[in-house]
Amino acid sequence: MFTPLTADDLMLKPGLLAGERILVTGGGTGIGRMIASGCAALGAHVFICGRRVAVLEEAAAAINAVAPGKVSTLACDIRSEESISAMLDAIWAEGGPLTGLVNNAAGNFISRTEDLSIKGFEAITNIVFKGTFMVTLGCGKRWLAEGTSASVVSITARNAQNGGPFTAPSSMAKAGIENMSQTLAVEWGNRGIRFNAVSPGPFPTEGAHARLLPGRSASAEAEAGKSKANPMGRVGQPAEMANLVAFLLGPGSGFISGQSIAIDGAGYQAVAAPLWDQSKDWGDEQWRAVREGIRATDSKDKAGR
Ligand code: HXC
Repeated sequence: MFTPLTADDLMLKPGLLAGERILVTGGGTGIGRMIASGCAALGAHVFICGRRVAVLEEAAAAINAVAPGKVSTLACDIRSEESISAMLDAIWAEGGPLTGLVNNAAGNFISRTEDLSIKGFEAITNIVFKGTFMVTLGCGKRWLAEGTSASVVSITARNAQNGGPFTAPSSMAKAGIENMSQTLAVEWGNRGIRFNAVSPGPFPTEGAHARLLPGRSASAEAEAGKSKANPMGRVGQPAEMANLVAFLLGPGSGFISGQSIAIDGAGYQAVAAPLWDQSKDWGDEQWRAVREGIRATDSKDKAGR
């Protein structure tokens, strides 16, 4: 069940994003909805777009119930340049430029790479890679032409850095988006446009679970709150995601650009640490036995010197 965030749930000061106009692609569900909710709670006018109007309307109604009038919906398929252009024209006409963009919309499914068709590859990369670029470019051209400062946050994944077996198109596309973020942070930095990327660890959402973790329930896992994917042993909370993205969108982070920040409870470092999984659950007795075993090996080696 989706519970919209309020300013009390967030660590940032109420009204931090007042006057900001922020587009969250794919903002009707999952992580996008968490971010949209947090930004609205902090006073931004938030535009959420997606392909399913009913889903958008439902999310907007829930958020507007606690942050009246803060969320507007726009139907848009980010695989279509025309659809993006129409959406951005409508936003600019409605009340002026966007000041923030959250590239959140994604598509994914688990598959052996050898089983993918080119259409399957494109179904994902046309959303994650090309679609994200087209939305960014559409906003960027407008911002550059009118001299508007803006902050762009792209939701990526750790598979952008170390590969994503069984999710090759998503992984390749997310790596491209990380590169876009770094590239444009430099290219457009002197025009006041910032780019940062955020890679989430486990934030259970129905859309991702259905396509990546078959047989597992996102709502049950969110409710239970546990995860084996990081040393903290837990999943991320919607407010934690909203805090980070709102911080990067907000005026106080104006000197942060070109960065990629994980929000995963050190999951990435843990997975990359070869001895963590082996040793994390040992108690005093086991550590004593291990130490004695190592010392015995040392003594044997010394005796042979
Ligand atoms: C193999 C598949 C497939 C599957 C679709 N295809 N699903 N192939 N396994 N499970 C193939 C089809 O066979 C077809 O190719 C081609 O893809 C297009 O299929 P469509 O159904 O027409 O695609 P479309 O309706 O455009 O849907 C796009 C989608 C869908 C990406 C496939 O899943 C979607 O709309 N997802 C949006 C939401 C989502 O995915 N959320 C999770 C994001 S999680 P052929 O050749 O047969 O015609 C995330 C986390 C990242 O991003 C981090 C991960 C670690």
